[in-house]
Amino acid sequence: MSIIRVNEAVKVFRQYRRFPGVIGSLRSLITREYTEHTAVNGISFEIREGESVGYLGTNGAGKSTMIKMMTGILVPTSGVLQVMGNTPHTSRKKNAQEIGVVFGQRSQLWWDLPVEDSFDLHKHIYKIENKRFHDNLNYCVEILGIQEFIHKPVRQLSLGQRMRVEIAMALLHEPRILFLDEPTIGLDLFAKDQIRNFLKKVNSERKVTIILTTHDLKDIEEICPRMIIVNKGDLVYDGKVSDLRTQIGNERKITIDFRHDIGNIDFPGTILVKDQGLRKTFVLERGKESAFEWVSKIAEKYPVEDVSLEDSDIESVIRTLYENLETTSINE
Ligand SMILES: Nc1ncnc2c1ncn2[C@@H]1O[C@H](COP(=O)(O)OP(=O)(O)OP(=O)(O)O)[C@@H](O)[C@H]1O
Ligand SMILES: [Mg+2]
Repeated sequence: MSIIRVNEAVKVFRQYRRFPGVIGSLRSLITREYTEHTAVNGISFEIREGESVGYLGTNGAGKSTMIKMMTGILVPTSGVLQVMGNTPHTSRKKNAQEIGVVFGQRSQLWWDLPVEDSFDLHKHIYKIENKRFHDNLNYCVEILGIQEFIHKPVRQLSLGQRMRVEIAMALLHEPRILFLDEPTIGLDLFAKDQIRNFLKKVNSERKVTIILTTHDLKDIEEICPRMIIVNKGDLVYDGKVSDLRTQIGNERKITIDFRHDIGNIDFPGTILVKDQGLRKTFVLERGKESAFEWVSKIAEKYPVEDVSLEDSDIESVIRTLYENLETTSINE
């Protein structure tokens, strides 16, 4: 069952022209000249309950704008958005009960209050029943390791600590969907891992649907089997990482250990990218020949000790996609 439906969503921002100086600001009020910018250009997708989806795109692609429309913060210019059957911006209160939201770049916590008081306030605002509140709090505090700084005011927390609190807070009212806009931005490797593991756990144990934006592709690799990629407001990919790899047809790397050095030899259809004497790494173009056929041929002629095959990583797959998009838009 689809828990989120987005059909031809469009968001056009109007930017009013500002003239400098005092007279200028008066003039800005009178003339109201504006330019328009389409941040989301007719995007459609559906997300099923329990899915974990990565929303990707370069800076300014329209990711945060889409998250804000799905969470009811922004009103779409046109198109239909439904989150658990509700239109987010018209039923903000009802929607707020069903969703949790985390913005990596902006805190939703009370800066001067101790963490535990922030949690308590959240309990009252969302009218969370006592037992449910304590069960959920204990679950999050324990797994995210919040106990050691639960008495500290939020402003004294490190970024990694604060982000853990933000995520815990977003889950206290047991939302069915969790939206996260760059939850791992600026965090160290350990904090990132901790948050990824927690999100994976929440998704698998509690069946919370997760939609997250990120520039760290490891987040996607670890948490999101499905990714939606947007570019300049358009949807350019919706599917699995592995399927994109096949579609883009990136090269594969083959590393061969020879029993003795065969010297600097070129093989057709491949490029020697690393030569460490006995160990040589080749890049094989996809589609020309299967890796197996190629290695068999080499092994007939040369003393092959060991072979390892490496598919291109997610980063190079996505980079190729972006590069392809750039060249198509230049040619247009
Ligand atoms: N309130 C606004 N008024 C005018 N333009 C806006 C507004 N918010 C966003 N934009 C513009 O819309 C486009 C998309 O912005 P958005 O914040 O959705 O990008 P993003 O994909 O989240 O990028 P990033 O990876 O940098 O966070 C940008 O060109 C941005 O300048
Ligand atoms: Mg953004």
